[in-house]
Amino acid sequence: MVSEREHAAQILVASNRGPVSYTVNEDGELDARRGGGGLVSGLSAIGSGAQSLWVCAALSDGDREAVRRGVGEPGVLMLDIDAAVHSDAYNGIANSVLWFVHHMLYQTPLEPVFDKEFRRQWAAYEAYNKAFAEALAQRAADGAAVLVQDYHLALVPGMLRELRPDLRIGHFSHTPWAPAEYFRMLPDDIAEQLLRGMLGADRLAFLTRRWADAFAGCCEQVVGGTGTTRTGVHGLGADADFLRERAHRPDVAERMEQLREQIGEGRRTIVRVDRTELSKNIVRGLLAYRELLEEHPEWRERIVHIALAYPSRQDLAVYREYTAEVSRVADEINAQYGTDDWTPVVVHVKDDFARSLAAYRMADVALVNPIRDGMNLVAKEVPVVSDHGCALVLSREAGAHAELGDDALSVNPYDVSGTAAALHEALTMPEAERAERTKRLAAAATALPPKQWFLDQLEALRAKDA
Ligand code: F6P
Repeated sequence: MVSEREHAAQILVASNRGPVSYTVNEDGELDARRGGGGLVSGLSAIGSGAQSLWVCAALSDGDREAVRRGVGEPGVLMLDIDAAVHSDAYNGIANSVLWFVHHMLYQTPLEPVFDKEFRRQWAAYEAYNKAFAEALAQRAADGAAVLVQDYHLALVPGMLRELRPDLRIGHFSHTPWAPAEYFRMLPDDIAEQLLRGMLGADRLAFLTRRWADAFAGCCEQVVGGTGTTRTGVHGLGADADFLRERAHRPDVAERMEQLREQIGEGRRTIVRVDRTELSKNIVRGLLAYRELLEEHPEWRERIVHIALAYPSRQDLAVYREYTAEVSRVADEINAQYGTDDWTPVVVHVKDDFARSLAAYRMADVALVNPIRDGMNLVAKEVPVVSDHGCALVLSREAGAHAELGDDALSVNPYDVSGTAAALHEALTMPEAERAERTKRLAAAATALPPKQWFLDQLEALRAKDA
């Protein structure tokens, strides 16, 4: 059935966003940019000798051009799915419906609306999942292990199972999973199709027990249980070796200098680093900071809130509006409280990893207050690279809270006054306690480094009855 079987891969990863992206430069040549992240680092654990293949979608014009010119990286297969189909699947369904369901982001009096347009986009989501399933079926060796990633590809396990019953199929959710009563906002047939698609896998994995249980709860209500599919939990941790080395390179020192100049002599810092993502709750974080300045005037002129808010999913109007709201509220706080030599909120919106690490190292307090988050790696990374210890204000709705809750200051992300109080507590935490807590946070945060995280999944998928 598969002509290239002799070149077929033993381990395959499938995700919407791949490990490399291309841009066409001024001379018309393609520049490749390799991404970071847990999966890239995890996959490197199997070594270059292993026959592995990462199947991903072409996302940009540069990516599509690379596919057309036959340019690619060894071990990466980029699928040139029709741009309109990809946009309906990615922007329309994955980011505007499934992401909203799992992060519980709808303003329910008016949304969601599941109408004819939704059905049209859903057909694109099916086609896009099918393109992945077919490519994987083509390129997988007999009995190969396939690790499918995320809500973009929820139908792939079921489709692939039909095409290649011999494969070991796993699926990993990097997001939370919605509780059944929220998940069931989806039309009944769609809810069922999604769960059955996922249950085509031999094993489904999640970042925390809470999300795995929520999935099982949905299956119980919609399809009567999880059947023979196994579920597991793998809490991706921070990559300590990489972070500590990277955080001490000269470009990070340079960014620390720049930030210090913006902050001003002797001031404390409250740091947050996020993609400007609706679930990250950046606006309520700013409101909490404003309330802190209001309730505790003694902090005025003595602290600075550094908010690194990098652009995300700007094709979606609601993301653009949210990004504008972050700037508006920050400007309002600066206008209200700022003085000639004190800017209360410093916002940077240009993605810069060296600057993020600089902010991590300098932070007195890290604010991580998502509405809901699969894990949140920032919460894990800050304690690992912190120079002098950092108090962590952490939402109880972040997956990371399951592992870090004991040594963080926990907040209800909707409770702005509660968050302001936690910021005050964090700022006044005795230094020795802060240092001790940071040590324990760093240990918990690095318990399962990306390579081990990946190998554990592979091993569990291959084990017959684990
Ligand atoms: O952080 C959760 C996550 O689902 C990641 O697994 C994934 O890489 C990302 O979100 C998707 O974001 P984007 O739409 O920018 O590719």
